[in-house]
Amino acid sequence: MDEEVAKLIALSDITAEETVADMVFHVGRLNGADVVIVKCGMGKVNAGICAQLLISRFGATHIINTGLAGSLAPELAIGDIVVSTEAVQHDFDVSAIGFKKGEVPYTGLVAFPADSELVSSACKVLAEALPDIKVLAGRICSGDQFISDRAAKERITADFGGLCCEMEGAAVAQVCTLNHVPFLILRAVSDSADESAGEEFNFSLFQSSVAEEFAAAMTRLVAEMAE
Ligand code: ADE
Repeated sequence: MDEEVAKLIALSDITAEETVADMVFHVGRLNGADVVIVKCGMGKVNAGICAQLLISRFGATHIINTGLAGSLAPELAIGDIVVSTEAVQHDFDVSAIGFKKGEVPYTGLVAFPADSELVSSACKVLAEALPDIKVLAGRICSGDQFISDRAAKERITADFGGLCCEMEGAAVAQVCTLNHVPFLILRAVSDSADESAGEEFNFSLFQSSVAEEFAAAMTRLVAEMAE
């Protein structure tokens, strides 16, 4: 989101900016760490392009992708945060020729695992920075659809389980896995991925407070990673 990038940039010392593939990469330092901050836009193709550029052109050694998500699990309410342990593409289906649902052929993987150190650091940092917010670690399901009906939500849950659905995480996860770069996906729950999702998502005050929360958490997280 624009708000997330703006809050992070305000906390950083940005020394260069470069636009590639219509994405603006802000290069600088945040709390003692070298960072590149960029809005990838929506969907798996944008996220995949952005992740590969971060690695190949900007030399990223770790990638953290933040954003919003619809809830798939009854224990998650709007405002709660999900830390990825792994990410799966719920709309990837080559099962007609013998692969598992969600499996990316020739990787042997349905779910791409996040870096376990990043997962534990993020859980610790989020608990410190946002003590009043519920944080759960688990599977994130990505696909190129905004999920806004109960039938679609139930299909994803039946096929893949998972805590939340969004549109980018598993693309970042796949690119990072293929490049052997550790990654983490963080999502704030913006809606319940059912018929009320559109209205819930468009509640803009929420987006700005989430951006604030992620900026606070990221500032601490990059310092831990730089240690
Ligand atoms: N991002 C936020 N809410 C979402 C939803 N319901 N489906 C897909 N991506 C989302």
